[in-house]
Amino acid sequence: MYRKTYVEIDEERIKNNIREIKKKYDNYQYYIGVVKGNAYGHGVYITKVMKEAGINYFAVSSLEEAIEVRNYDRDTPILCLEPIDPKYIEDILKYKVTVTIDSFSLAQLYHALKFKGKIKVHIKLDTGMNRLGIKRKEELHQTIKLLEENHSFLIEGIYTHLATTGVYDIYYDRQVDTFLEFLQGIDLEKIPIVHIGRSLTLVNHAKLDMVTGIRLGIILYGFNGSLPISSGIRGYVSEAKRKHFLKKYHVSETVRQNDLKLKTAFSLYTTVMSLKKIKRGEFVGYGAKFIAKEDNFIATIPIGYADGMSKSLKYVSIHGTKYKIIDVCMDMTMLSVDSYVNLHDKVEIFGNTISIREATNNIGENAYHLFIRITTRVPRVYKEIEIKY
Ligand SMILES: Cc1ncc(COP(=O)(O)O)c(C=O)c1O
Repeated sequence: MYRKTYVEIDEERIKNNIREIKKKYDNYQYYIGVVKGNAYGHGVYITKVMKEAGINYFAVSSLEEAIEVRNYDRDTPILCLEPIDPKYIEDILKYKVTVTIDSFSLAQLYHALKFKGKIKVHIKLDTGMNRLGIKRKEELHQTIKLLEENHSFLIEGIYTHLATTGVYDIYYDRQVDTFLEFLQGIDLEKIPIVHIGRSLTLVNHAKLDMVTGIRLGIILYGFNGSLPISSGIRGYVSEAKRKHFLKKYHVSETVRQNDLKLKTAFSLYTTVMSLKKIKRGEFVGYGAKFIAKEDNFIATIPIGYADGMSKSLKYVSIHGTKYKIIDVCMDMTMLSVDSYVNLHDKVEIFGNTISIREATNNIGENAYHLFIRITTRVPRVYKEIEIKY
């Protein structure tokens, strides 16, 4: 690594998160690790670690992403959540990718192919998010019939995606009801993997009887997102509020007990590349927008908006002290520092001193966006494997 800007991933924390989740929620057969978007920015190598900790299926967005996972894992099944053009059938077979069928017309295209081997498919139902999936029951029946009569296909799964978290919200209930309606008349004995939930569904709702799998994204990376349970007067008030909402909106019960101990594993670091003293009245950066009000020190660090850096993060940490971000250019950022900062000092953009939660609050984005905004130009390094600098 020539440029000393990197994301450090603590694999042990990811492993512990998975173990914690599986210990508490042990009634699923399929723990589907969602590793799209470069494993939520954590780097695809993390799939190796996830498998060791108990993830037994992966989900990605594209064939490209599935192929990348195969660099680290030969056998764990991988579901591609987006439909794949049937013309890539050879690669689907070669890399053993499970295909999402989101319409009867896509099923027809696959059905028309001539190939040797068998392809696993999961049928995607649209229960209200209006993004992907079959919306009509008749279309579902047609699709199943077509795929069942062709022995090159195995309908391994059926699923949907939930738009909301299900806490006091009627949309969650509606989507679940629609899913259950879809399943009426379908022989689930023949379809082993039924999955509807994502991270927040796992913690907020009890498992539905016929569900056998859960798609886990953000929770694996350390975000719980459940409602905190307070004690004393606060607890009493929140319980009263909860009962009020349940009655008012006639929504399903949410799970109250959640003591998962999860930790984030993602830290972004760089180093001080240049340090200079400036006098009161001098300006710094593009547009001369920052004028020093007093004699000051400016540290320049090798990270910019081409790496995902943003001025909205407000400050960084050096030796545990927070310093203000003055300007972010494409590849470099200037900081207002003091005489305690030295050339080559390690700089934390966020991760430990500045927690992910604090960074998301500052930048006004959620954790999904924060991880993903750090571009692939920034190498991901792992604590437990030796890294050559
Ligand atoms: C279809 C699908 N399933 C599961 C997930 C994982 O969601 P989460 O990170 O909330 O667990 C996603 C993420 O966007 C998704 O698109």
